[in-house]
Amino acid sequence: MIILGIETSCDETAIGVLKAENKKFEILSNVVASQVKLHQKYGGVYPFLAKREHQKNLPVVFEKATKGIPLSKIDLIGVTIGPGLEPCLWQGINFAKNLAKKLKLPIVPVNHLEAHILVNFLDFPKNKIFPALCLVVSGGHTLLFLMEKIGKYKIIGQTRDDAAGECLDKTGRLLGLKYPAGPKIEKLAKKYFKKENSFGISLPRPMIYQKNYDFSFAGLKTAVLYEIKKQKGKIKKEYILEMAKEIQQAVIDVLIKKTLRGAREFKVKSIFLGGGVVANENLREQFKEKIKKELPFLKIFFPKKEFCQDNGIMVAVCAFFHRKKAKKKLEKIRALDNLQI
Ligand code: KG4
Ligand code: ZN
Repeated sequence: MIILGIETSCDETAIGVLKAENKKFEILSNVVASQVKLHQKYGGVYPFLAKREHQKNLPVVFEKATKGIPLSKIDLIGVTIGPGLEPCLWQGINFAKNLAKKLKLPIVPVNHLEAHILVNFLDFPKNKIFPALCLVVSGGHTLLFLMEKIGKYKIIGQTRDDAAGECLDKTGRLLGLKYPAGPKIEKLAKKYFKKENSFGISLPRPMIYQKNYDFSFAGLKTAVLYEIKKQKGKIKKEYILEMAKEIQQAVIDVLIKKTLRGAREFKVKSIFLGGGVVANENLREQFKEKIKKELPFLKIFFPKKEFCQDNGIMVAVCAFFHRKKAKKKLEKIRALDNLQI
């Protein structure tokens, strides 16, 4: 079976083609056109510009992604229907519908958050992994949910305000870093090493000891703002390095603490991570180390870095596992901005 996955929920126009055969996946193509440069001027994603770019990029990305693959070999189309920026979602959905009509194919509507997690199954689900606890950490979402099996989920916590990635992007902006600041914060934090004259920055770990599984990163952003104000406009390079390190660590500490507490309480056999922030090397390493020390029987999975950011392959994987839900009545497929898992 060959599945084509289309993703346009935010600022990446992405199409991936995936082959599924005998419980093995083979990636035939994975094309991502990023709009990052365009949105940098605005310090974040500007929805109507993003919509226009998707419209422009989709035919080009499709051409590249299907080069050398006869269109008649495609069996199924998967498209992200939400959550995301509605005008952007519609671009992908309408493109998928036109293609489906032309090739007489059904469409599987895909949930972006589920896709961020299911891309971990590019190696196919193994034995004894359920129940699992899933953590999506992206620019738009911080969501913790239980997975009894593929398709059966229960949300246990989510952010009450800013998402973790959003917090990194906004605090990075306060430090003068361009959008998206997450990867830049990681680079700067790597350069930091403790010196005697360190600035002694200490940021809060919001909600870390609360007995629920929700998150709140807006307070962290405010704390960074007040810290920076103390510098009275003269921000030294060393200060930015220390701040980057501390912001990154504050986010990682909260994510690990709450996820591991959930893993214990719900007695899960594995943890699945996904979303753009999971590309962060420190987050990956610290999750692994902590689990090895505290819950050595727990398995942990994260996608390869290229599949942490938004991509079409994750949509194709998700569509494959939900292939029985494929729709032939295309008018029923709509963008859903407030879609939950
Ligand atoms: O999943 P994603 O590509 O898009 C959404 O669905 O939102 O996530 C984008 C987010 C941005 O906030 C970006 O700053 C963050 O992921 N990000 C990172 C890293 N790479 C991307 N955050 C921390 N470290 C990274 N290496
Ligand atoms: Zn995403």
